[in-house]
Amino acid sequence: MPFKILKKQELVPAIHLMDISAPRIARKAQPGQFVILRIDETGERIPLTIADFDRKKGTITMIFQAMGKTTTQLSTLKEGNYLLDFIGPLGNPAHIENEGTVILVGGGVGVAPVFPQARAFKEAGNKVISIIGARSANLLLWEDKMREFSDELYITTDDGSKGHHGFVTDIVKKILESGTKVDRVIAIGPPVMMRAVAGVTKPFNVKTIVSLNSIMVDGTGMCGACRVLVGNETRFACVDGPEFDAHLVDFTLLMNRLAIYQPEEKIAFEKYKCEREGCKC
Ligand SMILES: Cc1cc2nc3c(=O)[nH]c(=O)nc-3n(C[C@H](O)[C@H](O)[C@H](O)COP(=O)(O)OP(=O)(O)OC[C@H]3O[C@@H](n4cnc5c(N)ncnc54)[C@H](O)[C@@H]3O)c2cc1C
Ligand code: FES
Repeated sequence: MPFKILKKQELVPAIHLMDISAPRIARKAQPGQFVILRIDETGERIPLTIADFDRKKGTITMIFQAMGKTTTQLSTLKEGNYLLDFIGPLGNPAHIENEGTVILVGGGVGVAPVFPQARAFKEAGNKVISIIGARSANLLLWEDKMREFSDELYITTDDGSKGHHGFVTDIVKKILESGTKVDRVIAIGPPVMMRAVAGVTKPFNVKTIVSLNSIMVDGTGMCGACRVLVGNETRFACVDGPEFDAHLVDFTLLMNRLAIYQPEEKIAFEKYKCEREGCKC
């Protein structure tokens, strides 16, 4: 049964929001989980985090960055169009309980998956300190939504156009150095950012959780594509994760594996652009 796109919006350049009608997934979705979708019968399967869900309306919200063939093709779809496959909720829900003080760090499009966790940690009675970062002010996502569920909200931009001029890690370090008792840090964003956050929190011995975005195909533990090394053990991000102890993750392997299909991804994207533009090359 195809899945209808109920809402489609470009939030900031190249980052899009989509609400999909998927009542059965919405009924069970929890923060931290993801879906795997396929646009049409010739399309590839891609994983996207559940950025929000509405059980009453039966909708799942995704926020994605148009970066290659499939996400760009997805960004061209309109309200009223359909996705052929939409599978979920996949992965383990985030571990949410009353810990005390929790720092949530979202970088770039990673702010979207951080949002349902910020809300859930707040509702569980935690003090929520959120840090959201982007390259520039015009690329910042969901500041208002994050503010609603944060006791403190810090903004960082690489170019200094809004908030702190620098990286999210600068703020994490500042808070930890100030002596504030922090019980848990959750960081979601590019692997390089998650590795940097892990590096900052380790000397302070603060439990730090990251959500790993390794390449996924089936999302059910069968294909092995998403394998990651955590504490020197092979784990499958789709069924054992996607969240893991940041201090145990081998980020170098993760980043190397994310890059293994780059030549093929480049060809697929060029072919897609040629077909779309009717070029004869
Ligand atoms: C659990 C999980 C949740 C994710 N959530 C989000 C999200 O909420 N928003 C978002 O914008 N992106 C998210 N991603 C990343 C998203 O899946 C990739 O950006 C997308 O698959 C790229 O496809 P493409 O064809 O557009 O680009 P391509 O050019 O094919 O790939 C660009 C890069 O994306 C990564 N990638 C490619 N194929 C996959 C794949 N099958 N699985 C995972 N990564 C892949 C690789 O690093 C690759 O170099 C998530 C990934 C995972 C594993
Ligand atoms: S995506 Fe196939 S085992 Fe995880």
